[in-house]
Amino acid sequence: MTEIVPIGALPPLGTVPKKMYAQTIRAERFGDPTDAFQIEEIDVPELGPEDVLIASMAAGINYNNVWAARGIPIDVIKIRQKMGEPFDFHIGGSDVSGIVYAVGENVNNIAVGDEVVVHHGTWKLDDPWVTAGKDPILAPSAAIWGYNTNFGSFAQFCKASAHQVMPKADHLSWEEAAAPTLVGTTAYRMLFGWKGNEMKKDDVVLVWGGSGGLGTQALQLAKVAGARAIAVVSDDERGEYCIEKGAVGYINRKNFNHWGVPPHWTDTAGQKEWMAGARAFGKAIWDVLGERRNPDIVFEHPGEATIPTSIFVCEAGGMVVISAGTTGYSAVVDLRYHWVRQKRLQGSHGCNDPQAYAYNNLVRSGQVDPCLGQVYSFEDIGLAHKEMEEGKQVLGNRVALVGAKSAGMGRRK
Ligand SMILES: NC(=O)c1ccc[n+]([C@@H]2O[C@H](COP(=O)([O-])OP(=O)(O)OC[C@H]3O[C@@H](n4cnc5c(N)ncnc54)[C@H](OP(=O)(O)O)[C@@H]3O)[C@@H](O)[C@H]2O)c1
Repeated sequence: MTEIVPIGALPPLGTVPKKMYAQTIRAERFGDPTDAFQIEEIDVPELGPEDVLIASMAAGINYNNVWAARGIPIDVIKIRQKMGEPFDFHIGGSDVSGIVYAVGENVNNIAVGDEVVVHHGTWKLDDPWVTAGKDPILAPSAAIWGYNTNFGSFAQFCKASAHQVMPKADHLSWEEAAAPTLVGTTAYRMLFGWKGNEMKKDDVVLVWGGSGGLGTQALQLAKVAGARAIAVVSDDERGEYCIEKGAVGYINRKNFNHWGVPPHWTDTAGQKEWMAGARAFGKAIWDVLGERRNPDIVFEHPGEATIPTSIFVCEAGGMVVISAGTTGYSAVVDLRYHWVRQKRLQGSHGCNDPQAYAYNNLVRSGQVDPCLGQVYSFEDIGLAHKEMEEGKQVLGNRVALVGAKSAGMGRRK
């Protein structure tokens, strides 16, 4: 049996080596991502009956493994150990493009040699919630692959459940294909997953962080649906990039300063000042649209800094849909603008299989671009997370090469 192959090389198809190089996180290294991630030799994971082993050609970088590296807000290793897992390390990585090397005994729709990507929603197939036919990403066993679960894509081989595995787009290189699935499928659920407020033609959609991972995908999904997306950004270069990706216009948030928790409602002077900022932001939306219309959907993830404004500007009966609280969790909702105007504040997390497959089909048909930003080496996975945490300028998504020797490989047409 092959013991281990170097990074950038592959064993013969279907030959699974004993060991693999992996970027691991261990509890004693929690902290700065450049120290928390270290390369180690680890045993290639064993497969359960429903599992697929994939040679990782490229791995997408997402914010969730910044959290894993820091050990906050949860220690993913300790939580898995409490559930009975033996491993004292975390191999993260929630996006991958790669080649199937082995499948579990019950897997019959995926074969060795298939070129695939993986979506990040996973759950136990025998979870009573799932067997009852309810939305599985809401199940008690639901987890984010390569964050809550071990053996993600920051290693030569990763392990996923067969239902997560989807065909790779033929026209994309390995690094392009590894870029968009986590953010794209999350954006898809946020925009199409909430009955009564699904995005439709002519809707106005306000997209925070329009040039970022989630944002670029949201802008393109809005364009596909015939909706009008307005991006919020922090400079004009990012704004122009958003227009390229389908936004009808952009707002530079640096022109406003009413962010964060507003003054208490009994503070009349403070409220007046805050309201002037929020109204000016609302007017900036009308200026982009050329008419006095408020967003039917506000696509949220900054959280504490922006939720008060999002709730204020949202149209009556509209939805603020949120999938993160990157700037903090103590978001204040002024209920005067919420209940009377009957707005919805909807949490959203991960995706289910139909949502992921629908999104992947848009990528495969070329209607959604993966928005590849920066490509890193396998060795620089820690650095990539550090730069993401620092908000270092990258338009679109970051990806690290693993099995792919160089960028540009893997296109089939
Ligand atoms: N729940 C889920 O399933 C799920 C899935 C994917 C991602 N997430 C989470 O969503 C968040 C965003 O992920 P991402 O991949 O889009 O990250 P990203 O590529 O770093 O983009 C985040 C964007 O937020 C904007 N931003 C930063 N600070 C801001 C502030 N104070 N106010 C308003 N906007 C601000 C930035 O744009 P400007 O500076 O140009 O405004 C940036 O482009 C992360 O916390 C991630 O963990 C959750």
